[in-house]
Amino acid sequence: MDYLEIEGGNRLSGTVTIDGAKNAALPLIAATILSDKPVTIDNLPRVNDIFTMLKLLGNLGATYTFEENRATIDATTIDNTTAIYDIVRKMRASILTLGPLLARFGICKVSLPGGCAIGQRPIDLHLKALEMMGAEIEIKEGYVIATAPEGLKGATIVFDKITVTGTENIVMAAALAEGETRIINAAKEPEVVQLCEILRDAGIEIEGIGSDELVIHGTGGGLIDIRHITVIPDRIEAGTYLCAGAITNSTITLEHVNHAHLVSIILKLQEMGYDFEIEKERITIKPASRIKSIRISTTEYPGFPTDMQAQFMALALIAEGTSTIEERLFENRFMHVSELNRMGADITLNNHTATVEGEADLNGADVMATDLRASSALVLAGLIAKGTTTVHRIYHLDRGYVKLEEKLQKLGAKIRRLKE
Ligand code: UD1
Repeated sequence: MDYLEIEGGNRLSGTVTIDGAKNAALPLIAATILSDKPVTIDNLPRVNDIFTMLKLLGNLGATYTFEENRATIDATTIDNTTAIYDIVRKMRASILTLGPLLARFGICKVSLPGGCAIGQRPIDLHLKALEMMGAEIEIKEGYVIATAPEGLKGATIVFDKITVTGTENIVMAAALAEGETRIINAAKEPEVVQLCEILRDAGIEIEGIGSDELVIHGTGGGLIDIRHITVIPDRIEAGTYLCAGAITNSTITLEHVNHAHLVSIILKLQEMGYDFEIEKERITIKPASRIKSIRISTTEYPGFPTDMQAQFMALALIAEGTSTIEERLFENRFMHVSELNRMGADITLNNHTATVEGEADLNGADVMATDLRASSALVLAGLIAKGTTTVHRIYHLDRGYVKLEEKLQKLGAKIRRLKE
């Protein structure tokens, strides 16, 4: 197994290129199931979650190529509608095949993803919405078995909670349903917006894109002609590198970013004292003279993202005074706290709120990655800790960050990948 070894204490400088957004690419790959022609996707990040999603489609009978950052997927050859446990267990987002498979074939069987390190993560809202659209759902032997022999019908759906992949699943299902589907309390994340725009470009009439109420006019079953896709930049990868610049109090530039997607993150960093220079597709973060403490509450877009909570917790360790970070989306997303404390941090947890004492004296240690974003927080802490930090179980990191250690090396960090 690979691990990362980091020597802390270096300032960073230079430019880092941000890859395409994994969380935008996953539903777009699933959406190719709706297409009557092969689809080419550019700016696809070469991370393990993307390989897993492609493998899943391949297992269903699709063919694909994936070279550099371009994949061409031909899902017209799908002849199997079972998403098997062995692939789904590796990545919860496999559930994104449920909506499009059911919409196209009227039947499918998708393994239940199960819990994960950051909490239970149920899919009840996906299933309830599909039932509203006429699907019959049965849970048997760890699988969701969904049938809609007459095809899916448009319906009005009110999500009790805002769900990103739930909204994406229902948008894709609605694209081939008969009539109009209205989704109330829809997710507004840029990744949802891109999926809607791609379906709209393929001829599906969708009203309210980017708002919390979407109206989708389905084809009644006919497949659609999805054109060429270029995946949007990864706002979480970008946010993580901004935190790398911030925690080392350095000047670094990010290119290939969409700063409109980064507003809540940039505002928090500005509140802490950092300066920015923002150009078209580039952002430069500049050092702060004083690094102030923060209060963060994670919430849905456009609010502060839960996927940046762990990285900001690492950053709060160098601020003056006490910061508080409330996690409102996932009940168990604080696994990095005990690892950061092993490095000398003073973080206490009270229900869903972490209290972080600043100006911490961090020392390198052996630490364990527990989920994708928690892993990057440990790397960030390693950049400033005295001595050597070793981050184990980085397969979590490889799910979502393209060549993290190479990108950080290029910025001047002393980090290398080794084998246990
Ligand atoms: C997506 C992102 C993930 C991010 C999360 C929140 C992808 C592939 N993943 O995950 O990186 O952290 O959004 O921004 O895009 N819920 C239910 N029932 C459901 C569905 C969700 O109770 O059927 C709850 C969840 O437990 C959670 C909240 O709703 O508390 C939001 O989850 P959701 O938006 O669905 O997260 P994902 O789509 O899984």
